[in-house]
Amino acid sequence: MNHIITIDGPAGSGKSTISRILAKKIGYSYLDTGAMYRAVALVAKRNGVDFDDGKRLGILCNSLNLRFDKDGDPPRLLLGKEDISSLIRSPEIDMLSSKVSAVGEVREAMTGLQRKIAKGEGYVAEGRDMGTVVFPEAAWKFYLTASSDVRAGRRYEELLERGEKALKNIVKTNLKKRDHQDRMRPLAPLKPAEDALIIDSTTLTIEEVVEVMLSYLKQS
Ligand code: DC
Repeated sequence: MNHIITIDGPAGSGKSTISRILAKKIGYSYLDTGAMYRAVALVAKRNGVDFDDGKRLGILCNSLNLRFDKDGDPPRLLLGKEDISSLIRSPEIDMLSSKVSAVGEVREAMTGLQRKIAKGEGYVAEGRDMGTVVFPEAAWKFYLTASSDVRAGRRYEELLERGEKALKNIVKTNLKKRDHQDRMRPLAPLKPAEDALIIDSTTLTIEEVVEVMLSYLKQS
């Protein structure tokens, strides 16, 4: 049986929270692939690697000791023994992860790692290319959207909750820029898979979106 459910969509569409809740409800694990690109960006920045240098980025990706500790909720992302879960959530890493994710060598390494992690186990995998590239045979594919105002508002609230200083209009500008980059890149761009179920969460609560998804899953 196919054991993968994919949830793709732009930043602020509610993917992470919804994927986590859905996974819990159905007893699946949760795979946050955006966190993996964020980790690559963090390590590349730390090591002063040029973000246009695909070869070095590829080598760096293949040497990363990256794993999720599933005991955390959300799962903690470990780089070796270091917990980088919070470090990867800064506005700077938002933009750098988008940049580094356009590089072919990085995508190739991360795609391989994502497939390896999810092999043989029930997973709700969220990202940008889960349904189109990484898990094209997934049992269910969802694509979450919401208006850019609502998405920027969610992002802004998230930053405030984390104690970061943020200006709403800058959050919105950055979110739009990142989405544009993620949509327009030639490799694995953000887009719904042809067989994805599209859910617009602009006027829905998180619980309502999860309910909609569960009602689809019950059909299988
Ligand atoms: O979901 P997120 O905001 O944590 O993702 C950070 C960046 O990583 C996003 O701007 C694009 C990239 N990404 C990607 O290219 N493919 C994925 N499957 C997940 C994220």
